[in-house]
Formats: sequence, structure tokens, C-alpha cells
Amino acid sequence: MARVFSGIQPSGDLHLGNLLGAIRNWTRMQHVDDTIFCIVDLHALTLRPDAERLQADTVRLAQTLIAAGLDPDVCTLFVQSHVSQHVELSWIMECTASYGELNRMTQFKDKSSRADFISAGLFTYPALQAADILLYDTDLVPVGDDQRQHVELTRDLAERFNRRYGDTFVVPEHVIPPTGARVMDLQAPHAKMSKSTGEAPGTIWIYDEPAVIEKKFKRAVTDSDADVRYDVAEKPGVSNLLSILGAATDHDPESLAGRYQQYGPLKADTAAAVIALLGPIQARFAELQSDPAETRRLLAVGAGKARAIAAPVAERVRTAVGLLPA
Ligand code: TYM
Repeated sequence: MARVFSGIQPSGDLHLGNLLGAIRNWTRMQHVDDTIFCIVDLHALTLRPDAERLQADTVRLAQTLIAAGLDPDVCTLFVQSHVSQHVELSWIMECTASYGELNRMTQFKDKSSRADFISAGLFTYPALQAADILLYDTDLVPVGDDQRQHVELTRDLAERFNRRYGDTFVVPEHVIPPTGARVMDLQAPHAKMSKSTGEAPGTIWIYDEPAVIEKKFKRAVTDSDADVRYDVAEKPGVSNLLSILGAATDHDPESLAGRYQQYGPLKADTAAAVIALLGPIQARFAELQSDPAETRRLLAVGAGKARAIAAPVAERVRTAVGLLPA
């Protein structure tokens, strides 16, 4: 059984990209592999969220993940700051990564270009992410396409560490879904759908109501000619709709293109598929929201399971690098 690890930031509600690019893969893998999913609150600190909001968002994200199908009895679901070894190993990863490597991370370039205060943590963020993954002897990391570079860096760091100190880490691989790995903004299909686009009409939020979803798809930017074809470079708007419809209904976007002659029906069907996908998640979330104490209990159980795996790996690393036992 492969060990699977992935993480998600508690920075506001999720959007359709998070669901199609990552979480749907997680819910499937939990029944096949040994899966660990982490709400990465320490990563969220890199962009200075409001303290009360961060606490509330952490619980809300746990409820969203459970509503989306993660079963805490089947997988391990926990909060990053509840397992202190993440921070400890992060420092060791900072000492394993080079400045130049971190400076090449496109997510850092993108986020720092928009931040008014660029924290050192934003720069060293991928070292913490590498620690998250390596702490669990992870084989597979299911993520969307935008995390590909971070997982590749994690592999490089694991290999470098193993060369320096002897075989210590499992070298992980990313798992990126064939469809839905890069859901684009409905209004700007050259940019990925992202939490930072705020209330923009190009983002489908997981708790958007059906009428809002219909409206956003109806207004989605398409392309200048009226041809329905899957061609990401030439027809990004239409290709994005086909990808969303394909990911939501488990079909290949190219074959779906042949079913449509016009944009209108494609938009209507995509909206309907997304509404059908989100409806049950929204209903289950409404139930879970009434009992935050139970959610926190589940997270505490998850942290216990995570710690039991992380603690011996952290000890292995301490010994490898030559830290004197306390
Ligand atoms: P985060 O919180 O930004 O996103 C969570 C997951 O959603 C995927 N995703 C998308 N997939 C398709 N289309 C999109 N438009 C889209 N936007 C986001 C992301 O690829 C991700 O899989 N650094 C990570 C969190 C993290 C992590 C880890 C991930 C911390 N430690 C260890 C894996 C392993 C992040 O910010 O994801």
C-alpha cells in the first residue's frame, strides 16, 4: 500500500480548482492507499491572516474536506501546527535547500509580486512543504499542476539529503490528475482559478448557490470564433469549460467537444454538472457546521495518528544530521 500525503491551506473557502485538481483525487485514494491529509495552517501564516479568522477557517476547512468525502476513520486528517515535527524538519530542509533553488520557485515570484510585505517565510515556504511530505515517508503526493515544482524540489532535497547523510528519506512522486489539474479563471482563462482572485466572477466557490454558478458559467469568457474544440493554446476559454465538464463527469474533454456545436449548451451543461457535484457537498457541510466540537475531536484523533508516524522519522533525521540526543 502506497503512503500518500497532501496538504491544503486554510485561507478562505475552497474553489472548484481545489476540488477538481486535488480533493477529488484524495477522496478516491483514501480507499486504496494509506492516506494522510493536512490542513497547513503554518503555511497560511506566510500571508498574515487575521488570527480569529485563521482559527475559524481551519475548522471550516476540515468540515469542507469531510463534506467533500474525506472520511477521518479511513484517512488521517489533521492540522499541521498540531504536529511540532513539521517546524523542526522545516529548518533542516531550509539548510538542505539552496537560496538559488528557492528563488526559482514560480509560486514565490507570483505571490511576492502581489504581497505588500514579503515575509522570509513566504520565501522558505517550499522547505516547510518538503518537510510536510518527507516526515511521513511519503510515496505519492496528489496535487494540482501548480504544485508540481514544489514536489519536484522536495524530491531534489530528499535525494541531496540522502547523498549527504545516507538513506534517510523516501523520495516522493507527484500524482496530477489527467483532467482538472489546472482549472482556469472563467473571466481570464489564461490565469488559474485561485483564492486570491477574491470575489471575482471568474471563480466558482464551493459554496456558491446554483443560480450564482449558472450566472458565472453563462458569463464565462469564450473565444472569438464559435467553434467548440479542445485547444488550450488557441481556445483557452472553451477548453477550460470542456476540462471542467470532463473532470466533473469523468469524461475526456476532447471527446466531449464533439458533442457541441455552440457555446450556449456547453456552458449550460458545465454549470449543471458543477451544481450536481457541489450540491451534496453543500448539504453535508450544512450538517457538519452545527457541531464544531466534533470536528475538533476528529482533528485531535488525526493529529495523534500523524504524530505516531512523524516522531520516529524526525528522530531518524536528528540522528542522521548529528544532533546530540537530549
Ligand atoms: P493550496 O492550498 O493552494 O491548494 C490545494 C490544492 O488545490 C490545487 N489547486 C488547483 N488545482 C487545479 N486548478 C486550480 N486552479 C487549482 N488551485 C489550487 C493545488 O495544486 C493543491 O493541490 N503549497 C500547497 C499546500 C501544501 C502541500 C504540502 C501540498 C503544503 N504542504 C504538502 C502537498 C504536499 C498549497 O498552497 O496548496
